[in-house]
Amino acid sequence: MCGIVGYVGKGEAQGFLLSGLKRLEYRGYDSAGIVTIAEDGTATLIRAKGKIANLEEKLAKSRRSDKIGIGHTRWATHGEPSEENAHPHKAGDIYLVHNGIIENYKELKKTLTEHKFESETDSEVLAALVNSFYKDGKYPLVNAVVQALKLVQGTYGIAVVSSKNPEEIVVARSGSPLVIGIGNDETLIASDASALVGHTKRAIYLNDGEVARLTKNSIEVKTLNSEPVSAKVEEIETNLAAIQKGGYEHFLLKEIVEQPNSLKETLRGRVNVENGTVHLGGPGLTEAELRKIKHLIIVGCGTAYHAGLLAGYYIEQFTPEITIETVIASEYRYRSAYIPKDAVALIVSQSGETADTLACLREIKKQGIKTIGIVNAIGSTIAREVDGGTYVHVGPEISVASTKAFTSQAIAMVMFGLTIAQAKGVKPGVLRPYVEEIAKLPEEIGKVLSGVQPEVEEIAKKYADYDHAIYLGRDTAYPTAMEGALKLKEISYVDANAYAFGELKHGPLALVDDRFFELALLPKGALYDKAISNVQEVLARGGHVIAVTNVADFDMPVEGVVKITTDIEMFAPVLMNLVSQLFAYYMTIAKGYNVDQPRNLAKSVTVE
Ligand code: M6R
Repeated sequence: MCGIVGYVGKGEAQGFLLSGLKRLEYRGYDSAGIVTIAEDGTATLIRAKGKIANLEEKLAKSRRSDKIGIGHTRWATHGEPSEENAHPHKAGDIYLVHNGIIENYKELKKTLTEHKFESETDSEVLAALVNSFYKDGKYPLVNAVVQALKLVQGTYGIAVVSSKNPEEIVVARSGSPLVIGIGNDETLIASDASALVGHTKRAIYLNDGEVARLTKNSIEVKTLNSEPVSAKVEEIETNLAAIQKGGYEHFLLKEIVEQPNSLKETLRGRVNVENGTVHLGGPGLTEAELRKIKHLIIVGCGTAYHAGLLAGYYIEQFTPEITIETVIASEYRYRSAYIPKDAVALIVSQSGETADTLACLREIKKQGIKTIGIVNAIGSTIAREVDGGTYVHVGPEISVASTKAFTSQAIAMVMFGLTIAQAKGVKPGVLRPYVEEIAKLPEEIGKVLSGVQPEVEEIAKKYADYDHAIYLGRDTAYPTAMEGALKLKEISYVDANAYAFGELKHGPLALVDDRFFELALLPKGALYDKAISNVQEVLARGGHVIAVTNVADFDMPVEGVVKITTDIEMFAPVLMNLVSQLFAYYMTIAKGYNVDQPRNLAKSVTVE
């Protein structure tokens, strides 16, 4: 979604702003813009529709050595992607960039009769509102921003500069992240710490309801009620290599291939194979509290939701007296669901910023239920607001399609389930096989990835002309099929849907014809024979079946088979998901689409 960068310091602002916006490209956007202000107050505002390359082209003709500026990548909400709707927005001497949504912008707009609006955005309304309090610089910019924000309903992360005082940037946040980077004689801002990597390691994460006035060597943070805040300086842990492609053509392939290591990071220090136990420090629940848990609510969106569904299937296998409900955050936030007091909620999010998931977290907390984050982005809003949590530690995930996060989210949640089961006194013999397989998974993932890649690529090419797909699985392979279908849908634009095998005869079987192919996940296990019968039914109706299986002697007359060689049994679906990830990747390449930045989508969905 939208991205913000800003710079005030001894260096040239344009350079940082442009490189920062490029770092934020992965979040998804459809236009971009930058304003810099010279010492004499001359502002240079440049905006362009489409890719940052278009902005860069325009900037090349207007190089400036100005020492202050702000920039933005916009993901359209109010008004189509266009140069006029791109940020920064100007009102009088004010320039403003905004992430989020101003819900009462229509009412506010009616009161701002002196401003001539040039865009359809809610953000320009905010710029005009700040300007109406600024009164040509008669009032301090920070005060004008505070007055304006007091009238605003909605979410925002904003940065504001004025050509009347080209030495300060004012930033504020409510529901949309903002990080302040502390440099030597320079202060940088970004909506995502990845834009600051390589520039500084010291950062302040602004909290909701805070506003800050920044100069090149000062940072004053206060609340909207003017109470001073002594902000905590934190370290940015990400390194440059983690946000670069590192020789891969696409971030997606890099992130798929990284999984042996990223899962190792998730498991580090948390698995004791000798004892057959796991230990998670982050949730911060006592043994007694763990024993009392009777219900688990798992909340997430998209891939995080699928990871929750998958983990739920495992946790109920070994944790007695527990009910598990995995819910889609955008639905759950408006449901009137009763949450029993002996429940714990797992809040699952790679970015830690997803608006719907965050809203659920806040609702659930209001009901006095303990919340545990299963989050990747360190220091993100969800990570900071949960009662306890387990970071998945997979490093930055840049490609819009989530891959390595899924694997680690699912396993981290299973480990949380194991922690509950241990506390509830489940026999070690029941839990040990799970712990042993989890410990082996990173290595097995490595083997599968290097083993299947060429054949998956070949099969994906063969099916590249198809626009419809059905993913099938049952038990733990069912949420895995859902995740596989989402991957294909979001990057290859194939109309891919997942069904539990047992549901086929209740409707989806009618779809089987030459326009569809079916990807069947067939792990060994108690339900294997039943799934095979379902495959027979699809084949009998002329289906084009690709099978993914760990059954060595699988010999059905399907069109394609990807055999996985592994001694992992319970978690075989996690390995099969790697095939789905690679399949989606190679299909997208064959179709010629943008792998890392699929159309219409954003990496971090910070608006509802
Ligand atoms: O950052 P989050 O994990 O909260 O994101 C949730 C979804 O937006 C995300 O998983 C989305 O579905 C991915 N693009 C799927 O690949």
